[in-house]
Amino acid sequence: MTASDKTKAANQMWGGRFAEGPDAIMQAINASIGFDKRLYAQDIAGSRAHAAMLAATGILSDKDAAAIGEGLLTVLSEIETGAFQFKVELEDIHLNVESRLTEIVGEPGKRLHTARSRNDQVALDFRLWVRDQSDAAIEGLSGLMRAFVAQAEAGADWVMPGFTHLQTAQPVTWGHHMMAYVEMFARDRSRFEDARRRMNECPLGAAALAGTGFPIDRHMTASALAFDRPTANSLDSVSDRDFALEFLAAASICAMHLSRFAEELVIWSSAQFRFVRLSDKWTTGSSIMPQKKNPDAAELLRAKLGRILGATVALFTVMKGLPLTYSKDMQEDKEQVFDAADSLMLGLAAMTGMVGDMNANREVLKTAAASGFSTATDLADWLVRRLDLPFREAHHVTGTLVAMAEKKGCDLPDLSLAEMNEVHAGITDEIYSVLGVENSIRSRMSYGGTAPDQVRAQVARWSEALK
Ligand code: ARG
Repeated sequence: MTASDKTKAANQMWGGRFAEGPDAIMQAINASIGFDKRLYAQDIAGSRAHAAMLAATGILSDKDAAAIGEGLLTVLSEIETGAFQFKVELEDIHLNVESRLTEIVGEPGKRLHTARSRNDQVALDFRLWVRDQSDAAIEGLSGLMRAFVAQAEAGADWVMPGFTHLQTAQPVTWGHHMMAYVEMFARDRSRFEDARRRMNECPLGAAALAGTGFPIDRHMTASALAFDRPTANSLDSVSDRDFALEFLAAASICAMHLSRFAEELVIWSSAQFRFVRLSDKWTTGSSIMPQKKNPDAAELLRAKLGRILGATVALFTVMKGLPLTYSKDMQEDKEQVFDAADSLMLGLAAMTGMVGDMNANREVLKTAAASGFSTATDLADWLVRRLDLPFREAHHVTGTLVAMAEKKGCDLPDLSLAEMNEVHAGITDEIYSVLGVENSIRSRMSYGGTAPDQVRAQVARWSEALK
């Protein structure tokens, strides 16, 4: 290589002080274009807002700004139609777009980077992308909640066993169980809304780290890009990635909720439980066992938290030791967030589909609800209400009756009054009215309880809120 070839190989965007281009391996570790091309729309929107502001403040001529604005739209359509050639020697999306812009419009393209740095540029692009994903998560969660509300509305009074420790505890309603997830996903949604509110400040104009001597108007770019305001500290603006961490944290909690219901679906759809039938659309067969219908979608959903939480831990680890302000480590933020966001959106869509299609096996649920001494608490409560027993004593009497039934191999309502009176003489045959599961669920009228009327009230509240 001659000296002039070497200089040519140096980066055309910043190669002035470089005599040689990068080593091939340096290029491989340094370039981010392979993944940050996903930020193209945000990058172009940010550059258009920046150019318009440079013209409005007299930093750039109207003519140059117009050429840049137009040229960027050409770049956008080239990327969208697949005509654009991404170049690894141009490192990242920012340099790829700017270089192509300059090829198209000439000299004005070289003026676009006035009063800006890739540091505030990437902070902006990534924030815009995460903001879009937060909106998508909010949207996806609303759809999922609607699917759960529809299940709850249909089955507000279907009885099923409620569990603690996966042991039958007390009868509950199908609707109540479905609405429990509505509450969880509503909190998830509000976490994305909160994070979105906090991230909605525009870092553009922080420049490399210290701000700029050009008379820019940061309020103008902030409002053009639908931010509430510009960020208030330039050092923080280029080095903050907590908006992405908050997104990942919210995504992790949400994925944990998805995973819990996925786990219930795996259990419920098994031949041992048969609480639900999953539709053919969300299951697979086995290549060797013809009888199998496997809940693969639910299993994969259960697993997705591994990726999403993994991304969260990865980004925390990238960020934790970085002195202010920008360090190249931060380029490692994007792939993790991209993967986590993709996993979350797919998970939300799959769960929405599965919940919409699943069929509760009402008879099985009802039989299961009545087994396992599930109305023992109702019996104890009756002893308190009618015989004025202290609850601890009522608990003991009931426990003795449960042991008696267990020994006989029957359920509580199968014990005769005479047998019950052996344990406590005050019991009358009114007791049988509280031992039925229907009576049990109807009696749980406390606010937020499982009684069908309580469930219907929550269904009505959420149907309204989700309109
Ligand atoms: N590709 C870089 C990233 O993702 C853009 C910012 C580069 N800034 C710099 N000073 N090298 O972080």
